[in-house]
Amino acid sequence: MAISLVVNGEAHALDVPPTRRLLSVLRDDLALLGAKHGCGEGACGACAVLLDGKPVVSCLLPVGAAEGRTVTTIEGLDEAAAALQEAFVAEDALQCGFCTPGQIVSASALIASDPTPTREAIRVAMAGNICRCGAYPKIERAILRASGQAVG
Ligand code: FES
Ligand code: FES
Repeated sequence: MAISLVVNGEAHALDVPPTRRLLSVLRDDLALLGAKHGCGEGACGACAVLLDGKPVVSCLLPVGAAEGRTVTTIEGLDEAAAALQEAFVAEDALQCGFCTPGQIVSASALIASDPTPTREAIRVAMAGNICRCGAYPKIERAILRASGQAVG
């Protein structure tokens, strides 16, 4: 039976086993390469996507769990994400960039639910997104900037 879901506004009926991981389907079947395979164990957030608007780690999520639901990847994010991308560049909030799509997906969900998050709220919301380059202070400033707040 096909798995029906909407990805970045486009309806799909995918003939894939329901136990396949969503990240694998996105990258290998739908050629959406923004979500990254980092740890593959739910610990780093590089694979973050939105499921019905909430961030999830797609490396752990069986695609069957997305049946009838809406998936948004970094490729499908709107102007809020564009503001975040500009702020990440302005604040120099990336080094290798491998974690950045996941960071922006999680940050966009945060700003959607809390348009002017405090530093503490940013740290809590971004706790699942690991940056091996250690750009955390700059990531925090980028999210403040993107939400129109003083960076300090
Ligand atoms: S690759 Fe999914 S959490 Fe690390
Ligand atoms: S910028 Fe390299 S892991 Fe975050």
